[in-house]
Amino acid sequence: MKPVNSVLSSYGTTIFEVMSRLAAEHGAVNLGQGFPEGLEPPALLQAASRAILEGSQQYPSMMGTPALRRAVADHAMRFYGLAVDPDREVMVTSGGTEALADCLFGLIEPGDEVVLIEPLYDSYLPIVRRAGGVARLVRLEPPDWRLPRAAFEAAFTEKTKLLILNTPMNPTGKVFDVEELAFIAGLLERFDAYCVCDEVYEHLIYDGRRHIPLIGLPGMRERCLRIGSAGKTFSLTGWKVGYVTACPALLQPVAKAHQYITFTTPPNLQQAVAEGLGSGDAYYQGLAGGLQARRDKLAKGLADIGFSVLPCVGSYFLTTDFRPLGFRGDDVEFCKHITTQAGVAAVPVSVFYQAGDVRHYARFCFAKKDDAIDEALIRLARYFGPPGA
Ligand SMILES: Cc1ncc(COP(=O)(O)O)c(C=O)c1O
Repeated sequence: MKPVNSVLSSYGTTIFEVMSRLAAEHGAVNLGQGFPEGLEPPALLQAASRAILEGSQQYPSMMGTPALRRAVADHAMRFYGLAVDPDREVMVTSGGTEALADCLFGLIEPGDEVVLIEPLYDSYLPIVRRAGGVARLVRLEPPDWRLPRAAFEAAFTEKTKLLILNTPMNPTGKVFDVEELAFIAGLLERFDAYCVCDEVYEHLIYDGRRHIPLIGLPGMRERCLRIGSAGKTFSLTGWKVGYVTACPALLQPVAKAHQYITFTTPPNLQQAVAEGLGSGDAYYQGLAGGLQARRDKLAKGLADIGFSVLPCVGSYFLTTDFRPLGFRGDDVEFCKHITTQAGVAAVPVSVFYQAGDVRHYARFCFAKKDDAIDEALIRLARYFGPPGA
């Protein structure tokens, strides 16, 4: 038999799936996989049901329904003061993941270099490679996740086609500040490169921090493609509704990829998301405020048990150093151990690095119901001993 594609077949089952299966087998509270619980806005569920019963069931425009494209443009103006043409600069996709793939397939020529920042969301690298791109990896290191400016600059060459920038960032919880963004913008201009801006966590940002889209910085309007996700903004990850915003010259090749990958996205879900994006400030503030409270509850509980908990200002993940608990194995062993022995699942941070060498951090998702967080903390405290013991 002829071999299948070597790039994609070289990857195993994702750790998220592995840990979720293990969690299910052992009845563990699953704080591993990053999906939210108990935050789905009822108004969107009603809007989707209405749209299914009363709306069209057929292919909508491949660029997305006019209502959703308009809502994405209005949202960009409302939150970031960005003027976006809904007819020429917005495309709806089947989730942020499809938007990422479309951008990479639409922009990369074989041999182009792509700068990526580790720890890395797992879909980036396989698609960059499948598109023929050559990855140039730059590492952020715990516990402060600071951008190493010299190493970052050294990753750019004449062959750099694009950077993928994720802010707020999974799994670190880092939010790039305006100085870092200005530094990045300078490099993109100097090396004539584009930036695929993965901003799916744009509304999951805490402690009064503000999300700053790179596309809004001087000179960046023609270089950036900004990706958003209703899955994250409305805690509806199974819906897989995403959107890309970019100038027409960049959006066109990306739309070609979309045309041949999914072509379109369910019209009824698009209608509900269009209504959702127009929600009042109370919705957006409530989302961030509610998640911040869950973050604080989990962070305090884990710290009381003895974890060293790293700061998190965005996304819904807490990174913890488990060495103070006295565990002697690596992070994969630790996560399997607490799943099977304590009944709480987490994800090892080493899987977000190609070298797999950051070995004593575990990632916990705090976008879970209060009951689940309480139960996880009770189980961990029971297993590791009472706080301070
Ligand atoms: C950094 C990052 N980008 C993109 C996505 C995918 O978004 P979607 O669920 O809309 O495909 C995720 C989902 O976890 C993510 O963490």
